[in-house]
Amino acid sequence: MAMLELMDVCYGYGIKRDKKNVLNHISCGFEQGKLYAVIGKSGSGKSTLLSLLTGLDLPQSGQILFEGTPTDKMDLNEYRRKCVAVVYQDFSLFPLLTALENIMYPMQLCNVGKEKARRDALALSRLVSLPESMLDRYPGRMSGGEQQRVAIARALSMDRRLILGDEPTGNLDSENSSAFIPLMQKLAHEENKCIIIATHDISVMESADEVYKIVDGQLSLYRNREEQR
Ligand SMILES: Nc1ncnc2c1ncn2[C@@H]1O[C@H](COP(=O)(O)OP(=O)(O)O)[C@@H](O)[C@H]1O
Ligand SMILES: [Mg+2]
Repeated sequence: MAMLELMDVCYGYGIKRDKKNVLNHISCGFEQGKLYAVIGKSGSGKSTLLSLLTGLDLPQSGQILFEGTPTDKMDLNEYRRKCVAVVYQDFSLFPLLTALENIMYPMQLCNVGKEKARRDALALSRLVSLPESMLDRYPGRMSGGEQQRVAIARALSMDRRLILGDEPTGNLDSENSSAFIPLMQKLAHEENKCIIIATHDISVMESADEVYKIVDGQLSLYRNREEQR
């Protein structure tokens, strides 16, 4: 069974006559253990799709099921704290918290004890290859690539299985951007996460297991691994 199932999902902005459906009857499934890319022109609805998958809003019609439960039947705050996380283009780290404190923050929101949160945060920073010397540093004194690793480690805390990225390599140089890809592949293929990345980045697209494209509100499979070989 797919971890995430979209069933005839519609979503638009505006009201009545001015209303325009950005997502128009989208149906598809996303599985654990796979890395997905979602492409499409600027304004095609990638961020809108991710905001529904993150539970920031509900579809206006149709349903999104996470592990079989529709998002409109869930406590969405809890869903966002425990099941899903997003990595944004600007990384959105808390500037007044150190790297380690940023990674610990979602665990503390969920009342995980400080010692356990610290141990888990250290393990996550190793998983994303963040050097230990970075842990006491504030985001303002880190490179883009380092900030991104902190954002990814923070996204993985609470053992979240669904990781979304909204153009996460958009602010990185090509060296940091190319380090990001093997990390995402490792998280999908070895840690069994479901990873969905909205991107313009050709190298992210090429390394994804499946690529979906949004055109005129429709999401369709653009290519999968087998076709590429
Ligand atoms: N809060 C909003 N209010 C009105 N229109 C919006 C809002 N957010 C996005 N849109 C519109 O919805 C469309 C899709 O936007 P978006 O999902 O951000 O696309 P993408 O991420 O692919 O660039 C665009 O036409 C955008 O202008
Ligand atoms: Mg966007």
